Amino acid sequence: MKFFVDTANLEQIQEAVDLGIIDGVTTNPSLMAKEGIKGEAAIRAHYKTIAEMVEGDVSAEVISTEFKDIVKEGEELAAIAPNIVVKVPMIKDGVKALSHFSKNDIKTNCTLVFSSGQALLAAKAGATYVSPFIGRIDDISWDGMDLIEDIVDMYANYGFITEVLAASIRSPLHITKCALMGADVVTSPLSAFLGLLNHPLTDKGLAKFLADAKKSRS
Ligand code: G3P
Repeated sequence: MKFFVDTANLEQIQEAVDLGIIDGVTTNPSLMAKEGIKGEAAIRAHYKTIAEMVEGDVSAEVISTEFKDIVKEGEELAAIAPNIVVKVPMIKDGVKALSHFSKNDIKTNCTLVFSSGQALLAAKAGATYVSPFIGRIDDISWDGMDLIEDIVDMYANYGFITEVLAASIRSPLHITKCALMGADVVTSPLSAFLGLLNHPLTDKGLAKFLADAKKSRS
């Protein structure tokens, strides 16, 4: 399973990289806006900085919605660095662009996916990754994990090579459940990855070990 950190914040990316568990990064226009980056040149420079911080794939999302504009913007984003993956929304012109990019060796991440039907379209269009948004489905009282299970099963039935990139992660439990279901990648805020560390019995056990070690050394 690949771990991508879902942020445009350079400090968080560096902390995640320093942990030695991160395989890539995903961003989106909201995460970029959160960093206060202004202007196209600054935005693209930020993508370049992120791409130089990790060896793995870095998703940079287009904001165009018409086919020709998506292609133009996507080609510009892909040219920023070899590990830039073009993130494209699940819309009709997006599917057409995914198919174009697939035929032209540009890696893509199909985003804003909320149904197995949409995931099927992404795979048929040759997307490198598909990003089903678990947390936003949970937020409306449906079960986002059901979607992950359906997509993994559907892709296995036909040998689709599109990787299931579980997104909109809200907790460590999402991460472990995605692993149990066979998602290829999870993209998550650093906090959820760090949440995997926590168990009260680990804390209790270490405290006991250290106390006993101190006794042996007094
Ligand atoms: O970046 C894509 C996805 O992970 C965003 O998730 O937290 O905005 O629902 P979120």
